[in-house]
Order: sequence, then structure tokens, then C-alpha cells
Amino acid sequence: MGGTMTVEGGRPLYGTVEVPAAKNSVLPLLAASVLCSGPVRLEQVPRLSDVEDCLAILRAVGCTAVWEGEDIQVSGPPVWCRMPLEETERMRASVLFAAPLLARLGRVETALPGGCRIGARPVDWHLSALEQMGAKVSQAGQRLVITAPAGLRGAELCLPGPSVGATETVLMAGCAARGLTILHGAAKEPEIVDLADFLNRCGGKIDGAGTDEIRIEGPCVLHGISYRPMPDRICASTLACAAASARGWVTIAGCSPSLYSPVLDILEGAGCTVMRGTSSATVGRMGALRGAGHLVTGGYPGLATDAAPLVAAALLSAEGKTWIQDRVFEARFGCAEGFRAMGAAAAVRGRTLELEGGCPLHGADVTARDLRGGAALVVAALGAAGRTRIEGCEYIARGYASLGEMLSALGARIV
Ligand code: EPZ
Repeated sequence: MGGTMTVEGGRPLYGTVEVPAAKNSVLPLLAASVLCSGPVRLEQVPRLSDVEDCLAILRAVGCTAVWEGEDIQVSGPPVWCRMPLEETERMRASVLFAAPLLARLGRVETALPGGCRIGARPVDWHLSALEQMGAKVSQAGQRLVITAPAGLRGAELCLPGPSVGATETVLMAGCAARGLTILHGAAKEPEIVDLADFLNRCGGKIDGAGTDEIRIEGPCVLHGISYRPMPDRICASTLACAAASARGWVTIAGCSPSLYSPVLDILEGAGCTVMRGTSSATVGRMGALRGAGHLVTGGYPGLATDAAPLVAAALLSAEGKTWIQDRVFEARFGCAEGFRAMGAAAAVRGRTLELEGGCPLHGADVTARDLRGGAALVVAALGAAGRTRIEGCEYIARGYASLGEMLSALGARIV
């Protein structure tokens, strides 16, 4: 879904929707498959442009990576160490391929990754972890060359700050490194636990994933497996916020509410009806919503930074203020411009989005500037009277295989 999307707002949503596999679990799992000596099958993977970019990277380094229905089959050891520049620069998650390729080949040529414009997003913590495990990093322009001719060795590491990606890099490097790796200050996101579960089922020895101290016993020979990635908690959050914005009654199936409880709690506090099951949640909204006051994002189990624009979109016309501070990225609220075009009182001050609330929304022509901001414009448009045209939907396609179709199946009118 590239290009433009048109939303006829003001129509309530009703029905049940199945949550797809998590983009932010599938991408590291595809990188980790490079470590496995046998074929790896990932089941029920959504067709995202970021996933296609990962398959292109795998093929460029000599692996076989093919769709088989909704599954992806990856096999074959990597033979080339040079990552393709275009996909590497376009997608930030490309940095996740560095450690496994370095572990298998002793050398990887990559580039400083790009990704959404939500902040600087350096990869210095990934690189310093690999250096502490015996790697050498040299930069030639945009190119990064990382070598470890003597292989990687276990080390006791401490991340300067919580980083999902850097934690995943250490998990993968630690499986290949000789000896024990201990990581202090690890991020605790569920996608890290999913990666650790995958690696352990392939033969890894990882303890503590999901806490801030992870121990990895290496080296371990990793065989291939067939694995179903965890559900996408940010996609589930998007659907919950869509129900809150559009009104109606939506059951979000296939994802435990515990994976996105801050979002559900905020919507319930604002006046939505929220019913939690073991692997589904129902979100209903009939009347007016109340503002949520001051909200702050943080690492798991706090309010996910990725969900901040989505929660904002659901509360644009609530009665009362909502202020959301994103403590993870410095430019998370590029969507505020689009919110204002729809009539919301939305201002960004530093890392905080300030919503005055109380303004009825109307359709407008808006532009997506990043993945979750784009999804937030769709969520806001569902609650706006009239037609909203959204440009830049290629950003949305990075993280949602079929957001328009999912919402249309619930009664939205989206073209
Ligand atoms: C992951 O990005 C997710 N992407 C992001 O989702 C998510 O927003 C983010 O985690 C935070 O939860 C994937 O998992 C593919 P970080 P990641 O490393 O790993 C700083 C989406 O919308 N940092 O946790 O890149 C960094 O600048 C995407 O699906 C360094 O300074 O995030 C940021 O301020 C967007 N140096 C903070 O840490 C480093 O080497 C958190 O970044 C690494 C990170």
C-alpha cells in the first residue's frame, strides 16, 4: 500500500480483527536465522516492505529466502559479507544483520542505517558491544566494515541506555561468542524475549531475557526450526485506538492484552469500555472521551514510544488535555501537523505533544512522515467528519501489511 489513502470518517467500527505477527519480532528473527545451520521457517509473516527488505539482504549475502504461502523459509549459510546499500540505508533494522553475518563470516560490510525520521537513531551501542566482544570496526564514508578474524569472545557488557536493537545484537553475538556473555542494562521488550525463545529453541543457552540482565553461554551450534513470531502489540494498539477514535465495538484477537496494557488502560481511563480476555481484548466507545492528562513513554512495560502517536490520535477530540512526552525518540510527533490540519489543538514542545482536546475533527489533506505517525493520521481520520486524504502511505506499508483492509473489514470506508 504505497501512495495515497482516502478515509471517509465518522463511521463506527464493529467486528473482530486478527492481529498479525509483530514486525519488530520478525525482523530480528530473520537476522538471527543467519546463525542457524539448518533451514528456518517463520510462520504467518505479514507482507511488509521492511520484511521484503530483510529478504533482499538475506539473498544479497547468499542465503535462500523465499515466501511459501504466508510463511518465509530461510536456508543456506551466508557466503558474501557485503550488505546491499539500498536496503541497509533505508531500514534501521538492517543493523541487526551485522552481528550474525560477522559471527558466520568473520567480516561484514554494512552501512549506517536510515529508517524513519523520528530521531538520530545511532548504532554506536551495537558497535561498541561488538568491539568489546573482539570485533574491529572501521568506517569508510557511509560504509562500516566490521571484522572479527579470531571470532567473538564472551564479555561482560553494560549498555549506556535501554536499546531494543543493541540488546538483540548482543543476544545474537553472544550465541556465537566463545564463553559467557553477561549483558547489564538490557531492554525488556517482549520482542527480545521472542528472539531469545527462538534462539534457545535452536539450541542457544540464554537466560534472563525480559529482565535487565541477560546471560548467554556460547558458542552454541544453532539448528533450524519452524517458529511462529509473537503478535504485533503495536498493531493491536493501533486497532484499539481506531475503535476509540471512530466509536463502535471491536474485538482484537490473537494478542494478549498484557502486551499493550498501558494503551488499554489509557483508553479505559478516557471513557472507553475495555474487556480483556487471555488472547483478545474488546474496545468499545459510544460517548465522549476524557483527556488522559500527562502521559510519558518508556521501555517495556511502560507506554511504548511507537504507541504514543496512536493514543494521541484517539484523544484529539476528547474533553480535556492530553500531554504525551516521548522519552525514547526526540522527534516522534511529526504527525501533529496533520492533526492540526484536521482541526485538533495539537502543539509539539520538545519531546512533548500537547493536545487541548475538545475540537471536533474534520477531513483534510495530510502527509505521513513516518510509520506510526502515518498510522496515527489514519486513526484520527476515522473520527473526523468528512474525507481525509493521506499522502506518504509507503511509510505505513513498512509496518502494516493491510491497515486499510483491516479497518474496512470493520466498517471503515477507506480507499
Ligand atoms: C526498536 O527500534 C523498534 N524497531 C522501534 O520500532 C521502537 O520504536 C524502538 O525499538 C523503541 O521501542 C525494531 O524493533 C525494528 P532502540 P531500535 O535501540 O532498536 C538510542 C517502529 O515504529 N540508541 O531501543 O532502533 C536511540 O537513539 C520502530 O516499529 C543509541 O543512542 O530502538 C533511541 O533514542 C520505530 N545508540 C534509544 O536508544 C544505539 O546504538 C532507543 O533506541 C542504539 C540506540
